[in-house]
Amino acid sequence: MALEQSSDKRQRVLAVSGSLRKTSFNTGLLRAAQEVAPDWMDVEIFDIRDLPFYDGDLEAQGDPEPVRALKSAIRESDAVMFATPEYNWGTSGVMKNAIDWASRDREEGSLMGKPGTIIGAGGRAGTSRPQMQLLETLGETGTIVMVKPGVMISAFAPDTFDSDGNLISPQARELLGKHLDEFAKWIFRLGPRDFVPFACEMDIALAAR
Ligand SMILES: Cc1cc2nc3c(=O)[nH]c(=O)nc-3n(C[C@H](O)[C@H](O)[C@H](O)COP(=O)(O)O)c2cc1C
Repeated sequence: MALEQSSDKRQRVLAVSGSLRKTSFNTGLLRAAQEVAPDWMDVEIFDIRDLPFYDGDLEAQGDPEPVRALKSAIRESDAVMFATPEYNWGTSGVMKNAIDWASRDREEGSLMGKPGTIIGAGGRAGTSRPQMQLLETLGETGTIVMVKPGVMISAFAPDTFDSDGNLISPQARELLGKHLDEFAKWIFRLGPRDFVPFACEMDIALAAR
């Protein structure tokens, strides 16, 4: 697909790392994504460390500022990308918490109908298990997730990351670049479109009241 010629605007991708560590491999993966993304794609990393734990009482008082910032960053983006570590076969608590907050935005521009992708760097299985878990969670939010080609980096393989968490493996960087090329096409194919508020289990529960 001659995407470069047919796309007349830049693609803004909001990227979230599920690890708060300064030298996190997943945050490093997102920094590498900023470098290898197609020329017309901007990858903005949103730091989720200031989000409180999701709490319905807190929400009822009005979204705390970091939550408002997350929701508005998602609304302003054309797509979302999640880089997940593997914590006990699942994603990290902070990642799930960020998605739970974001899923409470039911307006146009929220995760509903938004193109997304999941990547990750972790232990021996390269985050395959948390990626499957996130796929289910994001399915419920209405995010339209591109799964393949896929980026699952075995973070402890030699010469993959340096001690600052930068992705240094040329093969891994090439794999990430190819994934982002395909993601660019995915975003392009999906939008723009009319906003449809997908029914989620939350909507069904509210309707039944
Ligand atoms: C609480 C915790 C649980 C973990 N559980 C797993 C696991 O089940 N499987 C695995 O392969 N790695 C596991 N790891 C290793 C992490 O996936 C690995 O340290 C990863 O690099 C963390 O991501 P980060 O570098 O972005 O911080 C675990 C690490 C922590 C801190």
